[in-house]
Amino acid sequence: MNERPAFEPALVQEVATLLARAQRIAFITGAGISAESGLPTYRGVGGLYNDMTIDEGLPIEDILSGDTFRRDPALTWKYLFEIERACRGARPNAAHAIIADLQHRHEVCVITQNVDGFHVEAGSRDVIEIHGRLRELLCTQCGKRRSHRHFDAMDLPPRCMACGGILRPDVVLFGEMLPLRAVARYELALQRGFDLVFAIGTTAGFPYIYEPVATSARAGVPTIEINPDLTPLSSLVAYRFASGAGAALRAITAPDA
Ligand code: APR
Repeated sequence: MNERPAFEPALVQEVATLLARAQRIAFITGAGISAESGLPTYRGVGGLYNDMTIDEGLPIEDILSGDTFRRDPALTWKYLFEIERACRGARPNAAHAIIADLQHRHEVCVITQNVDGFHVEAGSRDVIEIHGRLRELLCTQCGKRRSHRHFDAMDLPPRCMACGGILRPDVVLFGEMLPLRAVARYELALQRGFDLVFAIGTTAGFPYIYEPVATSARAGVPTIEINPDLTPLSSLVAYRFASGAGAALRAITAPDA
């Protein structure tokens, strides 16, 4: 049995009613939704970036940047490898599963910054992975792609078996452009609009994450934040669950349980 936090019953009922009536729902997610799978978040309590010892004395944003990758791919790879190792063996959790299940009754669009691929693995079909996918490797020379189950036992930087070029994960490094295809899908999704918007487990540090929630809130579209900590979105949203993703989504989708 899962302990359910003491949510305000009126809050749960109101959001459950909005959910039941909604046709097109956006779930905008960040590292916090995968925290219950055992993945570290990047920032905040227990955040990977806080604990990571950067031997080179550079901020992690510099090491994980496109510039550093071009100059010194082995250095960027050393930390990409650490991030992948922190995710190894983890699986999608109840929150990913609940969101995937909702697409049987609603039109659901997931916009995620996560590179773990968990929304797709859980069965969600309309997923915009705006920062790419960590275990999808791409040759910087010939463009050949290859999926990896994990990064164990590889020379750093890893090289393409076809042409010997340096491989990189198909993710957006700091200072790089977002992938065009994902951006086109993102813009189309926003143009079509939503009648309910959830922001789950994100510090909303990027405008393309913050703005759709803020714009929806200003336009009177109901917005819900699920996050144990306060974020820049907290004062804008109409409803807030100060809890983990799984507990809040379970309460909202089964309010009478
Ligand atoms: N349920 C919901 N939210 C949670 C949980 C949980 N169980 N645990 C932690 N959180 C919240 C934290 O309070 C924090 O606000 O998740 C948020 C995680 O924030 P970040 O680590 O900043 O993650 P995110 O917003 O996804 O960061 C965006 O930064 O470095 C880049 O590319 C990286 O995609 C990443 C981006």
